[in-house]
Amino acid sequence: MKIVRTVAELRDALADAPRPVGFAPTMGFLHAGHQRLFRRSASECATTVASVFVNPTQFNDPDDLLSYPRDAEGDTKRAAQAGVDILWMPAESDIYPAGNATTVSVSGLTDRLCGASRPGHFDGVATVVARLLAAVLPDNAYFGEKDFQQLAVIRRLVADLLLPVTIVGVPTVREPDGLALSSRNSRLSLEQRAAALAISTGLKALQDEWEQGVRSAGSLRKALTEAIDTNPLLTIDYAEIVDAATLEPSGEILTDNRAWLAAVAVFCGEVRLIDNCVVEAA
Ligand code: PAF
Repeated sequence: MKIVRTVAELRDALADAPRPVGFAPTMGFLHAGHQRLFRRSASECATTVASVFVNPTQFNDPDDLLSYPRDAEGDTKRAAQAGVDILWMPAESDIYPAGNATTVSVSGLTDRLCGASRPGHFDGVATVVARLLAAVLPDNAYFGEKDFQQLAVIRRLVADLLLPVTIVGVPTVREPDGLALSSRNSRLSLEQRAAALAISTGLKALQDEWEQGVRSAGSLRKALTEAIDTNPLLTIDYAEIVDAATLEPSGEILTDNRAWLAAVAVFCGEVRLIDNCVVEAA
């Protein structure tokens, strides 16, 4: 595995790399969820590039940026283990060169869910992803479905900017007990870790109700939030059921002719965790 820092080094490494090129951008502190992205790319592409860059522009809370976990050494090992050929670890000035003045903003899809509770977050994500894609020029780019809204925003961005890259969504990796893997889980105390399980348990309860034929948005939302609401260590930021394609809110009765996204964000102390599931009629 080659490690590169600057855009010039990256382009040099890519010049004679076999295509197709797959790319998985990350913010590091790599875990099995990221490794699933890398392995998927390695199984579909001749060259796999991963980036590790903690993007300051997508943090609306400066403390969250400061406390975001980092582990360059562990990341290097985990990337190599999971089939990455080129690991790109740029500095901030490589991605945001002096005098840079361009922001990419995707409207509509970013109005709700994480967009509503983290103002400016998706402008930061769209801006960095556009820059990363422009530097790597991959054939495929891989993103986790845990960040479902992010994936929708990136699909819109790529379509709107006519970027010739195929965006691939990769299913969430979970701990054996159901908790979605996240770099932020490392910041949970043992007690908080146990409490956080209510998030995936709630989503499972919602899925069970859906499978039993429940179509009332209120009842499904209640199944999702009950165990979270009753836990004193957890505070719901949002828990919503929206159209999985448009992210528009559902009406009171969910119809069987489309897929619905149940998306939830929860504060566990200072740590904000997100998770989701999609339900649709068989
Ligand atoms: O999902 C992430 O880790 C980040 O939002 C991304 C896509 C790497 C952009 O910084």
